[in-house]
Amino acid sequence: MSATTDRTDAPRVVLGVSGGIAAYKACELLRRLTESGHQVTVVPTAAALHFVGEATWAALSGRPAATETWESVHQVPHVRIGQQADLVVVAPATADLMARAAHGLADDLLTNTLLTARCPVVFAPAMHTEMWEHPATQENVATLRRRGAIVLEPAVGRLTGVDTGKGRLPEPSAIFEACRTVLRRGGLGTDLAGRHVVVSAGGTREPLDPVRFLGNRSSGKQGYALAATAAARGARVTLVSANAELPDPAGVDVVHVSTALQLREAALKAVADADAVVMAAAVADFRPAEYVTGKIKKVDGVEPAPVVLVRNPDVLAELSADRARPGQLVVGFAAETDDVLANGRAKLARKGCDLLVVNEVGERKGFGSDQNEAVVLGADGTETAVPVGPKEALADVVWDLVAARLA
Ligand code: PMT
Repeated sequence: MSATTDRTDAPRVVLGVSGGIAAYKACELLRRLTESGHQVTVVPTAAALHFVGEATWAALSGRPAATETWESVHQVPHVRIGQQADLVVVAPATADLMARAAHGLADDLLTNTLLTARCPVVFAPAMHTEMWEHPATQENVATLRRRGAIVLEPAVGRLTGVDTGKGRLPEPSAIFEACRTVLRRGGLGTDLAGRHVVVSAGGTREPLDPVRFLGNRSSGKQGYALAATAAARGARVTLVSANAELPDPAGVDVVHVSTALQLREAALKAVADADAVVMAAAVADFRPAEYVTGKIKKVDGVEPAPVVLVRNPDVLAELSADRARPGQLVVGFAAETDDVLANGRAKLARKGCDLLVVNEVGERKGFGSDQNEAVVLGADGTETAVPVGPKEALADVVWDLVAARLA
């Protein structure tokens, strides 16, 4: 058993796998869940084992896969596994599996588990478009949703064979983010459904010559957490990403930029129809006045020429002053090293945004880490303290405040 799955306080996740070709993609979901500290019990159906064998599930989860109702009967697995779970996720969920779940059948271990689970249940469907669109499947999905289960929308794209259309398993990274959001918040929520939000992330680089630039320590993690959590809450998300070496979050349109001027151009374009914009990027206030086209050489006995800087436009102040749509909400971040709150309040007034997330930064604070701590200041005088926690938790508080104001 791996170290991550040993911890008794780790969230207990049941990964149900039903019999579709997308079962192989559940291996990546399983790896993401175990590597981020979840205890995962895999419950594949008999059909799923035709696609991926028991040994793979056992090796990746670090525990035996639970396959049979009639195995270890003295431990009552058909009741125990569901009762003890903090989350059940079924990926892929076939039309047949969802039909059996919707009708309360309990003819194998996974459907027994679904009947005994009292925790949130997420279904990630995968099937051919015709099967997804069939009224029988649609009614089963509606029944499951009415009872509180979360049925993710299938993705559109290549299906088994040469077909394309709706019915593809959502990306494992998107299912994983949905699971994390559900575990954190007890549900997915769709309070941002129908909204378009723009997020900036990362740190701009202002080139001096072909090999050197002025940059900063932003990794992009906070902005990417904002983008992923907004997508999980139903928003259409455009992420303007400056030099972040992170995988594109699933279901998010990513525009890659490098300099402050490029970020400004991309942000101005993206906000045209946006309901909200969150500027989490660390945008350079200055750039070298001159770009030297060849590498600046050091010459023995000659002092280097001083670097002259010019100011970059303040994108946040511009977006705040000149809203692209009436009612558009603008959120800034303030990275402060001292007098954090006083500087934050002054910055909120200066930038003219609706909310300002004030976080302290330093060599091991704010930048680069997976955690953050902040106070969100509102132009209406509100202050919301967010204790140290995952960057996704801070992101969720920001979206709570945004969703409340948009409503
Ligand atoms: O990326 P991570 O490693 O996860 O780190 C996260 C973070 C620390 C970078 C993030 O939480 C954060 O604080 N982002 C804002 C960083 C910053 O540039 O702060 P600032 O106080 O210098 O700027 C205030 C606001 O104005 C920011 O919203 C910034 O995007 C915006 N700005 C700044 C300068 C400029 N020329 N144009 C701007 O729009």
